[in-house]
This record gives sequence, structure tokens and C-alpha cells, in this order.
Amino acid sequence: MRGLILSGGAGTRLRPITYTSAKQLVPVANKPILFYGLEDMAAAGITEVGIVIGDTGDEIKAAVGDGSSWGLEVTYLPQDAPLGLGHCVLIARDFLGDEDFVMYLGDNLLHQGVKEFVDHFEADRGDAVAQILLCKVPDPQRFGVAELDAGGAVVRLVEKPADPPSDLALVGIYLFDKQIHAAVRAIEPSARGELEITDAIQWLLDQGHKVRSQVLDGWWIDTGKLTPLLEANRLILETLDRRIEGTVDEESRLDGRVVVQPGARIVRSTVRGPAIIGEGTSIVDSYVGPFTAIYHDCEVVNSEVEHSVLLEHSRITDGGRITDSLIGRRAHVTRSAERPRATRVVLGDDSVVDLA
Ligand code: G1P
Repeated sequence: MRGLILSGGAGTRLRPITYTSAKQLVPVANKPILFYGLEDMAAAGITEVGIVIGDTGDEIKAAVGDGSSWGLEVTYLPQDAPLGLGHCVLIARDFLGDEDFVMYLGDNLLHQGVKEFVDHFEADRGDAVAQILLCKVPDPQRFGVAELDAGGAVVRLVEKPADPPSDLALVGIYLFDKQIHAAVRAIEPSARGELEITDAIQWLLDQGHKVRSQVLDGWWIDTGKLTPLLEANRLILETLDRRIEGTVDEESRLDGRVVVQPGARIVRSTVRGPAIIGEGTSIVDSYVGPFTAIYHDCEVVNSEVEHSVLLEHSRITDGGRITDSLIGRRAHVTRSAERPRATRVVLGDDSVVDLA
């Protein structure tokens, strides 16, 4: 069994953060989203992993290296243009050979990991050539959607249907045997100009192959937008244990599940968990509320932050109260005494400001 992680794509739904950074490297609870997928692969006993990379490939390579930190052997597979998930399988043909593989979208997060899913397919697949994971969602038109028969067998899959046949979305984690290679060669690009993996699996069904499905019990999040990203942050933070490795002065208070990473400083502040404060970050005369992840080398001074994600080297000084926010790298939010009293901004393309 090999692993194929897809880390190309433009990340248009997470702009402006993704103008300068890969969406798969945005941290959730202070860990790049992609690293959760790599950990899942290692936990499932997979050692050879191919990572499909696009324009942000150098950044992904710098973060993941040769994969040895996870006990993995990583091979990078460059994709010239984001031509779809099916296209990723096409270019990974030599790397995958005839082996079974698990394909994992680098911006997806799955509560249960992939071990059980992989073990099940290897031990008891019968004559199935693929296995998909499904999750009930309130907005199926945003995803690939499965139609099952009364016995639970997959009969039809459609990509982002205007009129969804069910509320079962295709999770971005799939298991395939070598039959999928013929499928991605046979299909045509979709209306959005991509070779859809959904169409390739439908092709397998059309050829009379069996595709198994499993409906998830736990949560799954496609982190590609702000709201699901904050939700993923919330869910992962809830699983962390309290760990204080930085310094906390006498006048500060940490309530509940709080992680203070090495080299972080908490001075005259209150941090209410679940929350994580990254390496080299200072929290001074401030309040950090639940569901907040502040990445490394940030500064929060005389401010209140809650239900937010701050990326590295960002600063909030005299910032009042900030909630439900994603603050990009090196961004600075501050309040000055200058007249006229007004809001002054330098905003990147596609930024959003919601004024109090
Ligand atoms: C892709 C797939 C879709 C699947 C989704 C899961 O969508 O095409 O079938 O449900 O991932 O995250 P995309 O993110 O390319 O819009």
C-alpha cells in the first residue's frame, strides 16, 4: 500500500492567505494541516508516500523534507497545472506502479485517521476495486455526492450537483487498486476543466466494478475556507492535553486545556483553553480566549483574542477585542492615538475586514 497526498491547487477559497502560502501549510492548532495527513499515513503503516505539488511546491518541500521526521519516504510529484484530482493519479502512475494506494487531499482533516479504513480494505475488500468514505453534510452541492441503493451499495457519484441525489458527500480520502489508472485515462475533463476523481470512480461503476463505501461516524473537515478552518482548529484544540513548556509569570492565569509551547511567554495575562500559544510567542497584558491558536513568534499586547488563528510573526497591540479571525503572517493589528480617529488599513487583495 502506498500513499498519495495531493498538495497542489490554488487555494482560491482561502485568499488572501494563499496568495503567499500553500493552503495545506496553514496551521490548525499550531500544526500545518498537511502534517496531520502525513501522521495518519505513518500510523496506517504506510512508508512510501508521493506528494503532488504545484506552484507552492518549494514551500511544501521545505516543510516536509524527505519525510523522515514521520518515518516516511517522500517522493515529490510536480503537477504543471491544477488539472484535477484524476490528473494527479495520472501523473503519479510510475510512482504508484500496480500497488494499492490511499489518496489523501492535503487540505482534508479526518478525526479517525486512515488506519482502520486501510486495514479494512486490505483484509476484506472482496471484489471491490475502490473504497470511498462518505459524510452527511448540510451543503452537498459543494462536494462530490454519492447515491446509494437500499442495500447501501454505491450506484452513482456526481461532482458538485446543483440538485444533489443525497446528503452524502465524498470525503477527500480514497482507496484504490490499479484499476483506477485505466479510469483516469478514460474520462474527459469536467466543465471546470479538471479530470474529476468522482468521474473516474463513476467510470469504474459503469464498467461493472464494485466500489465500497463507508459512512463516517466522526468528523471530517475540508479546511479550504475560513469557517471550516476555524472549526477544525476548535475540534483539534479540544483533543489537546494541558502542557506548559514556556514561561508563565505569577500574575497570569491559565484556565483549562492550555498548551504553552517552549519559549512562549505569558505575562500579566489570562489564557482560557482550549488554546495553544506557539514557540517564541509573547502574550502580555492580554486575554486569550477559547479556541484560539497563536503560532510561533507572535506578539499579543494589551489586547483580547478569541476563536481565532494567528499565523507566525503576526502582532496585535492595543487591538481591542478580536474574534473569529484569521491573521496572516507578519500582519500587524494596532490602535494609535493619532488624529483624526479613524480606521487605517493596508489590506492585501481579497482581504476581509468586519468593523466593530
Ligand atoms: C474535491 C472533490 C470532491 C470532494 C472534495 C472533498 O473537491 O472533487 O468530490 O467531495 O474534494 O474535500 P474540490 O476541493 O476540488 O472542490
